[in-house]
Amino acid sequence: MFNDDFYIGTELTKDQILEKDTRALAILKEYFNSITADNAMKWESIHPSPNEYNFELADRFVELGKKDHMFIVGHVLLWHEQTPDWVFQDESGNLTDRETLLQRLRDHILTIMRRYKGSVNGWDVVNEALDEDGQMRKNKWFEIIGADYVKKAFEYALEADPEAELYYNDYSLINPEKRNGAIRLVRKLQSKGIKIDGIGEQGHYHLDFPDVKELEASIIAFSELGVKVMITELDINVLPRPDQYNGADLSLNFELKKEYNPYPEFLPDFVQQELAKRYADFFKIFHKHRDKISRVTIWGIHDGASWLNNWPVKGRTNYPLLFDRQYKPKPALDAIIKIGKNKK
Ligand code: GLA
Repeated sequence: MFNDDFYIGTELTKDQILEKDTRALAILKEYFNSITADNAMKWESIHPSPNEYNFELADRFVELGKKDHMFIVGHVLLWHEQTPDWVFQDESGNLTDRETLLQRLRDHILTIMRRYKGSVNGWDVVNEALDEDGQMRKNKWFEIIGADYVKKAFEYALEADPEAELYYNDYSLINPEKRNGAIRLVRKLQSKGIKIDGIGEQGHYHLDFPDVKELEASIIAFSELGVKVMITELDINVLPRPDQYNGADLSLNFELKKEYNPYPEFLPDFVQQELAKRYADFFKIFHKHRDKISRVTIWGIHDGASWLNNWPVKGRTNYPLLFDRQYKPKPALDAIIKIGKNKK
């Protein structure tokens, strides 16, 4: 679609990695040239207990990507979510100490990255280290190690695979306060000589948020740091937002009410058109800044596989992607293909 401009990626679910969802794989081959696994490489899946690594699914994911010459993204080495409790605990269940946690982090990063050295092209090294106000999130990594856990993670990643691209990934980086926090974080790493190749802005967007101007400002600001800019988890929620929340904090869970699920059967045409326009507006910006953007990853192949059917409200019918539940292309797909063809 955007072959000469930037990679167009997608996220793969377990069923897709195991080649059960074959219709999705046909779409993958036709439209995408980069992949990210939804869960296969998260700590709880790949390293569930201290001496147990579970590589089966991640291996299949990497094989699949290599077979089709995809740009393969490793997601994710350090995060506060989907990380088992043992990582942060000592034998009695109390918080462990800094040295032990650093040692665990280093073992984890080295073991996984070395296994996929030469196959995985880029890694989300640290995910979501910032709060909405741009300050460090007070997660267990921060509490036990201190603010330099980010630097350490990037050092270990470089040690594991000097060739791989290394990224910082987060949501809501279009919000000026958080954007500035990310800029400070990257500058700090750079001033210490740490290799960081890119910033991933998780594009969990809405029909009415964010303003494309904020998105554009972020792309420009991040590229001025001299790093690649990536939109890493793009999807556009079309359903009402409880509390007008616009971030992607996984711990939120609102109760299902009828008014939160207005289109349980099908998406009315006027919303379908709005969605197409919204995708087009975003892609116009990506295309305009294609000299700064290295990859845009859509967070899923078809609506039926999207996490937004279950977050932040469980059991809704959402329509955030480019293909519908019947694997049919949506007007949004045509709209972005047109933009990709524009060579201006
Ligand atoms: C965050 C993570 C992703 C995924 C989404 C929800 O954005 O980075 O791995 O869990 O939440 O699917």
